Amino acid sequence: MLNQTDLYYFSPTGGTKKVGYEFAQAVSEKVNLIDLAGDCNSSMESDLTIIAVPVFGGRIPAINSEKIRLLQGMGKKAVTLVVYGNRAYEDALLELNDSVKESGFEIVASGAFIAQHSIVPEVGRGRPDAKDKEEIRAFAQKVIERMESGVKKAIIVPGNFPYKAEMNQSATPISLPSCSLCEKCAIVCPVNAIHIQETVVTDPEKCMLCMACTSVCPEHARVLPDALREGTEKMLSAFKTVRRENETFL
Ligand SMILES: Cc1cc2nc3c(=O)[nH]c(=O)nc-3n(C[C@H](O)[C@H](O)[C@H](O)COP(=O)(O)O)c2cc1C
Repeated sequence: MLNQTDLYYFSPTGGTKKVGYEFAQAVSEKVNLIDLAGDCNSSMESDLTIIAVPVFGGRIPAINSEKIRLLQGMGKKAVTLVVYGNRAYEDALLELNDSVKESGFEIVASGAFIAQHSIVPEVGRGRPDAKDKEEIRAFAQKVIERMESGVKKAIIVPGNFPYKAEMNQSATPISLPSCSLCEKCAIVCPVNAIHIQETVVTDPEKCMLCMACTSVCPEHARVLPDALREGTEKMLSAFKTVRRENETFL
């Protein structure tokens, strides 16, 4: 078991944080939680840096790669995790690893894990579940053993470069008349795209459709427009009945 880890995560609806924290707790006594959407101060004493981000359209969110590139790896050991909604992670893990290496970290292991889909919850419903958590802990054990052995190995992950094109976003979430203007959506938005005036105003240029605002709304009044929700549900319907398996690379 390691003494201390830094867990950098971006988790608009909580799935990525669940996976990252399960891993971090299995690998070390103390976990420093660092939200990639906020100020990123790491601990100099940590033995390992864990970077966990969600998959959006087969890529990692652009705001994450920008933040990761600003971190100072200085040869520190890192584990990279992408968390996806039971469809596919495509180029996301490769893109994450490229950014993490560029910041000067040495990647010791990587993983692609499944969480409930944040747009269509029937896809990957309830994940990470007990089996996933068992697999995350088994992976953590292997990472500890690899680090203790001192063996260095290049970590090869699937994906293509140039990465697939960034997701084309046609709309933003909207607020229904039941909205109480409580501002929780504006506070939680990681890109500051929401402003409360007489109504809730969303900047379509900034919104990345991360679903943080819909998941925090106490009135369930922040939703996707019908056309976008129905289109996404249709596109993902085949993934409701399949179970994608977690993958690890070390
Ligand atoms: C805009 C957007 C795009 C997504 N694209 C993918 C994808 O390409 N493949 C996939 O399997 N899941 C995809 N998902 C599902 C998320 O990767 C998954 O739900 C993840 O757990 C979200 O992280 P969070 O719970 O930490 O917010 C997408 C979700 C959103 C909101």
